[in-house]
Amino acid sequence: MIDPGTATAAAEIGNRERYDAFMDVVANRITTRAFQPDYVVPREHFELIVDAARHGPSGANAQPWHYIVVTDSEIKLQISEYFVSEQARRARLGMKFPTPNYHGMGTAPGFIVVATDFRFIRAFPVLREDDPDSEVNRPYYENAERILLQSVAAATMSAHLAAAALGYNVWWVTAIGQQDAQDAIKPLLDVPDEISVIDIMCFGPPAKPIYKRWKKNLSEIMSWDRYDRSHHLSDEQLEQWIKTKRHRVMYRSQENVD
Ligand SMILES: Cc1cc2nc3c(=O)[nH]c(=O)nc-3n(C[C@H](O)[C@H](O)[C@H](O)COP(=O)(O)O)c2cc1C
Repeated sequence: MIDPGTATAAAEIGNRERYDAFMDVVANRITTRAFQPDYVVPREHFELIVDAARHGPSGANAQPWHYIVVTDSEIKLQISEYFVSEQARRARLGMKFPTPNYHGMGTAPGFIVVATDFRFIRAFPVLREDDPDSEVNRPYYENAERILLQSVAAATMSAHLAAAALGYNVWWVTAIGQQDAQDAIKPLLDVPDEISVIDIMCFGPPAKPIYKRWKKNLSEIMSWDRYDRSHHLSDEQLEQWIKTKRHRVMYRSQENVD
């Protein structure tokens, strides 16, 4: 673990070697949904990965996260069964989203459940601390919820990058917002009532060849001084993207999208 007293050494500005080493990790953080089932993640790797999350930024420095490392294969299987049955339910109900195959969760060597404490929303700026449920507070609470979710995502992203830096492929699973999922997962892990499970991080060596997915060009996501509208989508174009492109960008390599 990094000693907090030694973690502040200033980096040389513009050091391309350092940036390139970082980008090597960033560009090779690649999702896979099936892992080698017999691989055992050393305990130290779990610690290194969660330690990266520990350094994450958060609104009011509240650090509203908790990472539960699941090593019990029976529990992993039970959690994955929830997702597999949810996947079947969505298919039955005709949900159009191209739902992934969740069987791979059950045998993921690395399995970390990400939990948060939504009560920390009250630590972020609101108008009336004495009357948090008042109407005037609502927009501030909505924003506060976003602050909380962004905080947990920021820390979790560091954990994903740490796993990628250690050579693993990763899988970010969030299909768990609903109450049913909370009810199914929380008792298996003895999660207190006030705490919510918000995503699951799986990782390990991939079971199948991996592929880099399509990423937008820099010019498509970046503007200088004003919003560059040349890449702005109309409602119709967005609908069309969802209809024709979404499944391709999710399940095909960068070269095979078009
Ligand atoms: C916030 C967030 C939620 C995600 N939720 C899921 C999910 O529920 N199930 C899933 O299979 N993949 C999920 N993913 C993984 C994405 O599908 C994946 O990151 C995306 O297709 C891009 O591929 P890449 O990670 O290889 O760049 C999620 C990723 C993020 C960042």
